[in-house]
Amino acid sequence: MSKVPIGIFDSGYGGLTVFRSIRQRLPQYDYIYLGDNARAPYGNRSFETIHQYTLESVAWFFKQGCPLVILACNTASAKALRTIQQIDLPKLAPDHRVLGVIRPSAEVIGNYSASKHIGVLGTKGTIVSQSYLIEINKFFPDTIVHQVACPMWVPLIENKEYQSEGADFFVKKYLDELLLLSPKIDTLLLACTHYPLLLEKIKKFLPNSIKILSQGEIVANSLDSYLSRHVEIEKKLSQQGQTQFFTTDDPLDFEEHASFFFGQPVKAKQIELESIGKGRF
Ligand code: DGL
Repeated sequence: MSKVPIGIFDSGYGGLTVFRSIRQRLPQYDYIYLGDNARAPYGNRSFETIHQYTLESVAWFFKQGCPLVILACNTASAKALRTIQQIDLPKLAPDHRVLGVIRPSAEVIGNYSASKHIGVLGTKGTIVSQSYLIEINKFFPDTIVHQVACPMWVPLIENKEYQSEGADFFVKKYLDELLLLSPKIDTLLLACTHYPLLLEKIKKFLPNSIKILSQGEIVANSLDSYLSRHVEIEKKLSQQGQTQFFTTDDPLDFEEHASFFFGQPVKAKQIELESIGKGRF
């Protein structure tokens, strides 16, 4: 049986911040990265739409042979993962696995907080889904989660305004909203793939006492541990240290943006996703 790459999915370029850490931690494997740029951002879309889009991408990864797909996107993890795992996978490919970024973060975040007051920032979709609140409370029931949606941050970053003076206004706005929710917050999770690019500005408007966590390393550690516990998946994976990048939109645009999310130049190819009629699976 020929061996195959791990699939990494995001609505667009943002998942590259997570993938960067995964590849640093697990450089031996081969990867296929897909950004659904033609339909991004997902942040404000409905449950139904995000589920359909994400499922179409997952089906594409399965066609490429990937037995394991990581949804390196908070919005897709919040709004599509559970349905895909529980309803779609058993019909589509019961021996394949799809994992997200929320559970790995929820499993560890309570360990960082002494006050048991945690802040979570994400897209509207992620925050409204309450996924972080539910998952963190499963692992750390005595923890209080304070959430704020930051809908202006993704457009600021994608339009390369994340280092500009003008960005300060919206960075401060959402952080002020969060700090108003509780003065006890001592740990903040950046629960969106894009937000690590705003880290320097976020630090500027928060007290030094608040720890700020990005997800890349957390997800990479969790994948490493998953593969050591799931030999049936791990033995299917090819190990030549190669990555291919795909996008559903203009590859030149992907390449241009990708370099600042990924920290190095990439070459991308365009693909078209097959439409899956609602209710087909
Ligand atoms: N990748 C998305 C996330 O982590 C942000 C971009 C989008 O809204 O599509 O939530």
